[in-house]
Amino acid sequence: MLRIGLIGAGRIARVHARSIAQNPSTTLAVVGDVVLEAASDVASAHGARATADVDSVFADAEVDAVVICSPTPLHVDHILAAVRAGKPALCEKPVAMDSAAVDELRRRLAEAGDSAPAVMMGFNRRFDPSFQAVHDAVEAGEIGTLEQVTIISRDPAAPPKEYIAVSGGIFKDMTIHDFDTARYFLGDIATVSALGQHLDPELADTGDFDGAIVTLANAAGVSATITNSRHCASGYDQRLEAFGTLGSLTADNVRPTTVRRNTATLTEAQDPYLDFFLERYEAAYARELGAFVAAIAQGRRPSPGIEDGAAALRVAEAAAESARTGAVVRL
Ligand SMILES: NC(=O)c1ccc[n+]([C@@H]2O[C@H](COP(=O)([O-])OP(=O)(O)OC[C@H]3O[C@@H](n4cnc5c(N)ncnc54)[C@H](O)[C@@H]3O)[C@@H](O)[C@H]2O)c1
Repeated sequence: MLRIGLIGAGRIARVHARSIAQNPSTTLAVVGDVVLEAASDVASAHGARATADVDSVFADAEVDAVVICSPTPLHVDHILAAVRAGKPALCEKPVAMDSAAVDELRRRLAEAGDSAPAVMMGFNRRFDPSFQAVHDAVEAGEIGTLEQVTIISRDPAAPPKEYIAVSGGIFKDMTIHDFDTARYFLGDIATVSALGQHLDPELADTGDFDGAIVTLANAAGVSATITNSRHCASGYDQRLEAFGTLGSLTADNVRPTTVRRNTATLTEAQDPYLDFFLERYEAAYARELGAFVAAIAQGRRPSPGIEDGAAALRVAEAAAESARTGAVVRL
């Protein structure tokens, strides 16, 4: 049984706490958050201990591995604390606020040597059963040679403005998932072209884009197009298409039921999409944890790792530059 310490007790920590409690190979040992009430709230739901002394979680002899769900600016420090304590870590995305911080992280990890414990990045969409099935079908050659990937990713509603202010901007906060999905299919990205949109008057004073269209290509010219919006009236819009020489594969939105309604005013009407990431990617988070646990048990480096986090962040920075300058950025 792998005893896990949770770092942070906010929105995503609650999702991981549930996955840890439900996985037969893991148990939630302790939750650490600077806000003790938040830690206690998550811990008590799963019979775990709570502490506001976050450093003590890394030192805890009854913790075998950690899941890092703290705010992004703290990820590098928390990854390094896990490595120093000799504990594998699953860290939420993005790996850091900027590539300079990742370079410093790499330097410190290199000092820790090859025997340093494993670090996995929380790019949960790689573990979504439908997206993974599309990926595996592409890899198996079912649609011939891959030419284009289309990713649609729209949130049901914008997060609070206070969140946007410290999020690092739409490309690092939101599109980062799609950049990783694009890399999952295309490998290394060679060119980045982005259009940022300011269409939502409610978000006008945030200084951040509320929508974006990004086109990526790898060195062979295979493309990925990403469409993002911070709002979507019909729910959490998460779709994917892979197009190749022999056909295409699509992963559609997920709804609470499969009921189709036909009336005098509409036909084929279905429920709105599952509301947000907690519901839509519940299975993906559980399978992501399973992959982390399996890698530790088998002594393998888990995937995606720090280098995947670093690469997605570089693409995010290139997209921000392209949206600002209008130029195509070459990586
Ligand atoms: N993979 C996903 O789908 C997904 C979804 C949401 C958020 N995230 C990522 O997860 C991270 C957390 O996001 P969130 O939405 O849960 O944020 P949140 O604001 O809801 O929670 C963050 C928590 O961290 C706590 N915290 C602050 N300082 C701390 C410290 N020094 N040590 C420990 N805990 C501390 C806060 O008190 C808070 O409870 C971010 O990096 C975000 O990008 C990933």
